[in-house]
Amino acid sequence: MDFRVVQGNIAELETPAIVVNIFEGAEEPRGAAAVVDQQLDGAVAGLISDGEIKGKRGEITLIHTLGRIPTGRVIVVGLGKADDLTLDVVRSVAGGVSRHLRSKHVTSYISIVHGAGALDPGECAQAVVEGTAMGLYRFDKYKSKSDNDQVEEVTLAELNGDLIDQIQGGVDRGEVISAAVSRCRDMSNEPANTMTPSAMAEHALEVAQETGIEINVLDRDNMAELGMGSLLGVAQGSDEPPKLIVLKYNGDPDNSDNNLGLLGKGITFDSGGLDLKSAAGMLTMKGDMAGGASVIGAMQAIARFKPKVNVVGIVAATENMPGGKAQRPGDVVRAMNGKTIEIGNTDAEGRLVLADAVCYARSLGLTRLVDVATLTGAVVVALGDLASGIFGNDQGWTDQVVEAGASVGERFWELPTYSEYKRQYRSDIADIKNTGERGGGAITGAMIIGEFADDAAWAHLDIAGTARTTRTSGYTIKGATGVPVRTLVALAEALSAS
Ligand code: BES
Ligand code: ZN
Ligand code: MN
Repeated sequence: MDFRVVQGNIAELETPAIVVNIFEGAEEPRGAAAVVDQQLDGAVAGLISDGEIKGKRGEITLIHTLGRIPTGRVIVVGLGKADDLTLDVVRSVAGGVSRHLRSKHVTSYISIVHGAGALDPGECAQAVVEGTAMGLYRFDKYKSKSDNDQVEEVTLAELNGDLIDQIQGGVDRGEVISAAVSRCRDMSNEPANTMTPSAMAEHALEVAQETGIEINVLDRDNMAELGMGSLLGVAQGSDEPPKLIVLKYNGDPDNSDNNLGLLGKGITFDSGGLDLKSAAGMLTMKGDMAGGASVIGAMQAIARFKPKVNVVGIVAATENMPGGKAQRPGDVVRAMNGKTIEIGNTDAEGRLVLADAVCYARSLGLTRLVDVATLTGAVVVALGDLASGIFGNDQGWTDQVVEAGASVGERFWELPTYSEYKRQYRSDIADIKNTGERGGGAITGAMIIGEFADDAAWAHLDIAGTARTTRTSGYTIKGATGVPVRTLVALAEALSAS
């Protein structure tokens, strides 16, 4: 799909459809909507006074112009209340509009930059592009006959020539972000028989080749040499070779303190291992690598934006299967840093693979870490699908991640990591065990990973409830969401600025 920017009066442009907007409660059309209204002899104003157009967020009104102006159709989209306008509203509205027009078989249209009158025009253009591209996302490669309509070209029109450069800059950024989100979604939607650890490594290789960043993929033998017994314990139940995928972007090579480690859980299928999941519990477990996919997606965008910070992406990729060599409940494994872990439950595998990923990050000298994982059912009980859980050992660092999320419309809600919870995962025979009690399951899961962070600033994002959605709405499409790619990119950029 192509995005273009033109300077001009949207009502004078020849195109199948134009998109203008209106705030909730507005008594008359403003801006581009007013220009269109004039040319249609007050049609928009009439619909407002009749109460058909209310301007509620995402409300779509389609007006056929029957040849009265060069465009075939006018979409008036509601932006909600002017006081509540945010970039995420712009993103979401753009997503809804794009799917609506696609359902009407419109393959190209022109939109104004929603929100540009109130918010930063470049950021609004970026949000429109992100919302449109994310909203039109489809995973249909396995459909023999797919619903083939797709929007091919979206043009952003702006009357004020002074804003064109800013808007074009926003469009370029939006394309980079949405491509990164699409890669993450594609990887997570792909079934487990094709999205193996090796296939994840192929995706990372493609990112490295396209952007020129470094890549290093460790195999089973490499991991054994490094003493990654915790990761290998999970991998040993599967015939599928595990991979530890390492992507390195050096944006501030003379300043090694200015670093960021992004760590992802890459369980390409979580059967539970010998502590086998139920059929219902297993059904969505192809998506248990979404954290890893988000790291690979984020690295792609970071490599393109080139912030002044060194970023290392590390994905611990393996299946969790109950094969003949599978680890058993009660086994003891030793992580790369020497810590021993008793296996309380083979289905608590995410923390085991991340333990070694964190050790590896520390061995590279990384001092600021964020790990991303579909870690616990408990976080879904706590927060549902509206917010990811965040946990950490450094309040300033946790706050920075939450803030990065807020800046892009991804929500993180902090849960505590009080040291009194540690009692839950004490082991009688090893340093720790990999399970706690039922109560506080998301917290103990997080804290077990944190045990390996030492004095690094560490934050853990539990995306078990947010990585996937069952509903299409705004820029979110049923299936993988791509959370938290945009947060990770925003975080890297925030570190560059400071
Ligand atoms: N991948 C699951 C967590 C999960 C559950 C993700 C639902 C997405 C949706 C994880 O590996 C797991 O099995 N966690 C267990 C931990 C327990 C055995 C301590 C859980 O949450 O039940
Ligand atoms: Zn899992
Ligand atoms: Mn599991």
